[in-house]
Amino acid sequence: MSETVMNERKKRALSMIQPSGIPTLGNYLGALRNWVDLQDELDCFFAVADLHAITVRQEPAKLRQQIYQTFALLLAIGLDPEKSLVFVQSQVPAHTELAWLLACNTQFGELSRMTQFKDKSAKHADNINLGLFAYPTLMAADILLYQPEYVPVGADQKQHCELARDLATRFNNTYGNTFVMPDPYIMKTGARVRSLQEPTKKMSKSDENQNSFISMLDDKDTVIRKFKRAVTDSEACVRYAEGKDGINNLMEIYSAVTGKSLADIEQEFSGRGYGDFKLAVGESVAETLAPIQAKLTELMGDKAQLEAMMKESAGHAQYVAARTLSKARKRLGYLNL
Ligand code: TRP
Repeated sequence: MSETVMNERKKRALSMIQPSGIPTLGNYLGALRNWVDLQDELDCFFAVADLHAITVRQEPAKLRQQIYQTFALLLAIGLDPEKSLVFVQSQVPAHTELAWLLACNTQFGELSRMTQFKDKSAKHADNINLGLFAYPTLMAADILLYQPEYVPVGADQKQHCELARDLATRFNNTYGNTFVMPDPYIMKTGARVRSLQEPTKKMSKSDENQNSFISMLDDKDTVIRKFKRAVTDSEACVRYAEGKDGINNLMEIYSAVTGKSLADIEQEFSGRGYGDFKLAVGESVAETLAPIQAKLTELMGDKAQLEAMMKESAGHAQYVAARTLSKARKRLGYLNL
């Protein structure tokens, strides 16, 4: 390849999502939707992180269903297999192999410091397994295998990305240049969607209060009902201001789904009550989700087709991953026979 052609290689991005339940509106507006936009700028790799899922106990039949569903959801939101590589992690064995090579270059202390490990081991005290502890080395392998410049993630994954960078640096310095240094790519445009019931907290699908989050699969009536019950304040004025966390959250959601500015929204609802506003937010969110849900249902209706797509993308992913893996193996002293 000539130098000019090489310089024209699009920068690469990689991100993954665990197949653990249906993502929320917050996951969609804060992260997933932005992946769709990245496709045109960058050479994108997106995957279902199903190996990560078993760091906490999973019911096999349910896990299988969620792998199909999460893969289908990535396609349903508009990730386009013609533009991006959308694949399933467990179909690419190189992830587990590189994870071992990296694990032997990761310190106990580094993994002990991970806040997610501390949180999850407190939450699952009866199952603090080696995989839960080693999870960041698997994630580092996910990333480094594909040599991406960018890793679009939420703030909660920043610490894991930092570790991936540390491991890449250490490996490159110790054994010779092998891995591209990935930068976490914290989305500027992503909305920070908060709980509808406690608007100072992040919207979370593991919240016990079902009314606090919108699932991407909630139907129109459910969406409207949940917004109707959203916590607001007693001012009865739709304006974005400090101390109005509930209304600010609804305004940000409405802005994210309609593209209207906060100022336009204030104007649109000036002199109108919260009831009107909540209904408008609910309707526009339902309208945003409806085509995704329809597409998901269609895709889930043909498992054979989904499997064919998974198989095809896994082949491409294996090809890219194998190049990095064989380089890393060689650097470490292994034979590639
Ligand atoms: N750990 C991430 C999460 O729970 C998912 C993930 C796995 C990931 N491997 C990754 C994200 C690689 C970015 C890059 O959200």
